[in-house]
Amino acid sequence: MKINCTIDGSPYSIIANADKPLNIILQEKSDTYLINNSCLSAECGNCLIFFNGICLPSCLIPAFKLNGAIIQTFEGYRKTRFYHDIERAYAELGYKPCKQCYASKTLLIESLINKLDKVRLTYSPSNINDNNEDEEKNLSSEFIHNEIKINKCKCLSASQIDNIIQLAYLYRRRRSGKKL
Ligand code: FES
Repeated sequence: MKINCTIDGSPYSIIANADKPLNIILQEKSDTYLINNSCLSAECGNCLIFFNGICLPSCLIPAFKLNGAIIQTFEGYRKTRFYHDIERAYAELGYKPCKQCYASKTLLIESLINKLDKVRLTYSPSNINDNNEDEEKNLSSEFIHNEIKINKCKCLSASQIDNIIQLAYLYRRRRSGKKL
C-alpha cells in the first residue's frame, strides 16, 4: 500500500505492506534512525517515537495506520530546543540513560514533561494549594513512576528519571518565562 506521512517535519511517500511495523519501515528508510529494536514485540520500550504527538513503541504501529500521521523520531527531536532542557538536566544531575535506551528514554522524558502540567491540574484536588507543594509534587511523581514503565531498561532508577523530568521541566518553564 502507498502511505503518505510526515517524518521529522518532512513529507514522505512510502510503499509498504499494510502490517509492516513502523520501526522496520524507518530502519529500511535510513540507518540514521536510532531505533533499538531489542524485542520487536512491545516488551522493551526501546523503539519509542512520537506518533501524532503520543510517545509509543514504533514496533506496535502497522503501516496501515501511518497515512496522514505525523511522526517524530529521536533524530528529529534532538534538533529542537526542547532537547537542550533534557540534555542540561542530564549534565547537571550527572546521570543519563545508557546507550541502549538513550533515544527512547529521552523521548519518554519529553512526553512526560509535556504531561506534567496536565497531571498537576488533574491531581490537584481542592485541598492542594500553593502552600502544599510537596503533596502536589508527590502526586506528579506517582504518575511519572507509572508512565516510565513503558521502557524496561533499568539503567536509571525511577527516582533518577523523576529528578531529570522535574529539573528539565524547571528549565523549560524558566526559559519560556512561565511562573512555577
Ligand atoms: S522493539 Fe518495540 S518495544 Fe521492543
